[in-house]
Amino acid sequence: MGRIAYVNGRFVPHGEAMVHIEDRGYQLGDAVYEVWAVFGGRLGDPEGHFARLERSLGELSIPMPMSRAALIVVLKEALRRNRIREGLIYLQVSRGVAPRQHAYPSGDLRPAMVITASRVDRAADEARATAGIKVITAPENRWGRADIKTVNLLPNAMAKQKAKDAGATEAWYVDDLGFVTEGASSNVWILDAEGTLRTRDTNANILRGVTRLSLLDIIRREGLPVDERPFTPAEAQAAKEAFITGAGSLVLPVIAVDGRPVGGGKVGPVAMKLRRLYIEQAISSAI
Ligand code: PDD
Repeated sequence: MGRIAYVNGRFVPHGEAMVHIEDRGYQLGDAVYEVWAVFGGRLGDPEGHFARLERSLGELSIPMPMSRAALIVVLKEALRRNRIREGLIYLQVSRGVAPRQHAYPSGDLRPAMVITASRVDRAADEARATAGIKVITAPENRWGRADIKTVNLLPNAMAKQKAKDAGATEAWYVDDLGFVTEGASSNVWILDAEGTLRTRDTNANILRGVTRLSLLDIIRREGLPVDERPFTPAEAQAAKEAFITGAGSLVLPVIAVDGRPVGGGKVGPVAMKLRRLYIEQAISSAI
């Protein structure tokens, strides 16, 4: 059975799924997206992702294409038609189709909506977590609204390519003051030399990661010391452990930063415990 995509009200074979050339997402990057991890055919961390979708759209004055309840039905139908139990589901909403002009078109434009779903091999994923990943750093060069989850991902794509060329999996952005902001597609954490979990605060120009927020709840519930305070790449290299979070990575241990080992180059127990706790919670709260 081939892959099925959703485009503007229709489920269509993936290879035939098309958007208009004057879709503002295509021409101007005037679109937002969300990604949910899928556990047992259900949407992980639903509340956080729907709330952020609504916020991203709200910041750009794009209406929700349909109610949250209707959206859940469509997302789940996309999973069902693709027979996906473990995977990722991608939703993109653009302002819609209109003759090209920069300012938002006047009148009621119908937002354009696209959904694709893909399968994840959880065993391979777990093996990758057990091995840990390497990251590099890159100068922060994104616009000032990284809190909006837009499809303007060219800086992120460039940073990821730089990581790939260096034999690493992720790139961490470093701001003008020398502090890590976040990854090209993840939030960044360390267990610092004093044993405190640290991640960048959301007053910084970062995406308010849904996984990050859920993990903060778990960490507080577990009574582990945590501080939303910036750190430098050197602090990360001197940390006991490091890891990234995101719908794709869940909680993924980092064993090297810019070629220097973190935690002796071995995956740490705290990151692995947090990974387990996050996955347990995500499975039990999935809808
Ligand atoms: N990326 N920061 C950036 C820049 C991201 O792109 C992402 C997610 C995150 C983590 O957010 P969350 O925990 O809500 O997934 C942080 C998605 C998965 C992507 O672009 O595919």
